[in-house]
Amino acid sequence: MNVNDSIALVTGANRGLGARLVSQLLDAGASKVYATARDPRAITPAVSADPRVSILTLDVTDQSSVDAAAKVATDVTLLVNNAGVLGFGGALDGDLDLFQRDMLTNQIGLLRVSQAFVPILTENAPGAIVNVLTLIALAPVVGMAGYCASKAAAHSITQSLRAELRGTGIEVVGAYPGGIDTDMLAGVDAVKAPPRVVAERIVAGIATGQTVIWPDDASAGAGSVYLTDPLRLEGMLAG
Ligand SMILES: NC(=O)c1ccc[n+]([C@@H]2O[C@H](COP(=O)([O-])OP(=O)(O)OC[C@H]3O[C@@H](n4cnc5c(N)ncnc54)[C@H](OP(=O)(O)O)[C@@H]3O)[C@@H](O)[C@H]2O)c1
Repeated sequence: MNVNDSIALVTGANRGLGARLVSQLLDAGASKVYATARDPRAITPAVSADPRVSILTLDVTDQSSVDAAAKVATDVTLLVNNAGVLGFGGALDGDLDLFQRDMLTNQIGLLRVSQAFVPILTENAPGAIVNVLTLIALAPVVGMAGYCASKAAAHSITQSLRAELRGTGIEVVGAYPGGIDTDMLAGVDAVKAPPRVVAERIVAGIATGQTVIWPDDASAGAGSVYLTDPLRLEGMLAG
């Protein structure tokens, strides 16, 4: 979709990739960006200083919070579902409460926000929903079983939304980053892309009409393996 002159809303915009996505959307010509967070006081001054930024409270796990945001942000054309959490643990020994939190945030939360904003996006079409998923939605890594499952569910929901919104003028886009250097992976020894690079490539992918975005070098390489041989990717990531 045309990002220039779009009116975007980003969830989890107070830090990490979400804060970078706000800046990148503004750099790409968005006329307004709703930077949303559970705690709006946590939005960094670098983001809130721009007059095109409107700050809103939005907790993706709280229906009344989502409904209140949708009452205010009635001009949105581009919804970016970025908020997410990661609870570590394997399938056999993981803490099920953490896995449930991941599911309620990463899958149900994304869906809750999407359901609330589809009527708005429809009214303002053309537009797009962009879901920040992860490469490991497509094949899990060791020690993140609940997170991977929640993102796999969000990947499936992305496909359902794409099918249900076909012909409405609302594109549904999935972004599948590899590791990103944010709080989420702090302390984890892994290849991590700078959030600025990932945000740039996500916004470029939206602007060029990509339905599936691999926004860093690691995910681009692994993504091409997935597209030709999903079992090979499973073996690579499990190893
Ligand atoms: N880091 C990676 O390696 C990586 C890789 C692939 C995909 N991703 C995905 O990228 C997205 C952004 O993650 P990040 O790396 O920027 O992680 P992060 O630095 O931990 O930021 C996560 C953001 O999500 C927000 N959030 C969590 N629960 C929320 C809720 N219930 N309602 C609203 N906001 C909520 C957090 O807000 P609070 O400050 O209030 O907690 C924070 O703003 C996530 O969807 C993540 O799964 C990350």
